[in-house]
Amino acid sequence: MRLQGKAAIVTGGASGIGEYTVRDMVEQGAHVLIADINDAVGEQLAQELRTEETKVIYQHVDVTDEAQIAAMVEQAVAEFGKLDIIFSNAGIGSMAPSHELSYEDWHRTIAINLDGVFLCAKHALRAMKQNGGGSIINCASILGHVGQAATASYTAAKGGVVNLTRALAVEYAKENIRVNAVCPGYIDTPLLSQLDDATKQHLISLHPLGRLGKPEEIAKAVTFLASDDASFITGANLLVDGGYTAQ
Ligand SMILES: NC(=O)c1ccc[n+]([C@@H]2O[C@H](COP(=O)([O-])OP(=O)(O)OC[C@H]3O[C@@H](n4cnc5c(N)ncnc54)[C@H](O)[C@@H]3O)[C@@H](O)[C@H]2O)c1
Repeated sequence: MRLQGKAAIVTGGASGIGEYTVRDMVEQGAHVLIADINDAVGEQLAQELRTEETKVIYQHVDVTDEAQIAAMVEQAVAEFGKLDIIFSNAGIGSMAPSHELSYEDWHRTIAINLDGVFLCAKHALRAMKQNGGGSIINCASILGHVGQAATASYTAAKGGVVNLTRALAVEYAKENIRVNAVCPGYIDTPLLSQLDDATKQHLISLHPLGRLGKPEEIAKAVTFLASDDASFITGANLLVDGGYTAQ
């Protein structure tokens, strides 16, 4: 088991990529704190996965609220005795022509998708420094690498996550803290549920592998980056995109 005895936090862990990552981390032997704003689903997932050997707890955390993030890290350390891993995954989609995008919508996307990732890293780093090391994985996107129409705030946030990941990797390498990101292509999760069939078919056609990704395929990349199998990988932005950006 890749993560035997490790202590992890997954933000946005109640749904989609986060949920599958929680499932895989638990299967790999980690104790996990699920952080989300969807309390009913998060609590249910924690109850389903916890066993005598594996602690799985849920905490309400809005990643735009620094006090809640600080409390989340404190709770993980109190429950597990340490923090080895955080997957900063909570995020929202945003689609609007840029000339019609309100400043409020712009700010909300940046607040959750970029500021939230920074704040989680800030507080996780404090715990990891005390623990002698750790592994931070941020959720970016193909849209941190390439542009797309009508996604200005999302693309700007994910581009920020890509380079924030590099900056933190360089800054904390000497503390034995690795910082990486996963950059998914389009993945079949509730985030895509608003899209009509024609749009989904178009998105499928943009992936050379000829399909959308599955959340468990991103989860596998995250648990790899979290594990000692990735011990010489830091500052990487791992594209898991069915070839989307290779064209
Ligand atoms: N699905 C895709 O195609 C795709 C592609 C690239 C990147 N991503 C990224 O993957 C991550 C997960 O997306 P998903 O597709 O699993 O979506 P999802 O909607 O299934 O899950 C997102 C989770 O984040 C939670 N969340 C939203 N706002 C939050 C907040 N303020 N604080 C805490 N939790 C919050 C939601 O409650 C939900 O449980 C996001 O960062 C997203 O940008 C998704």
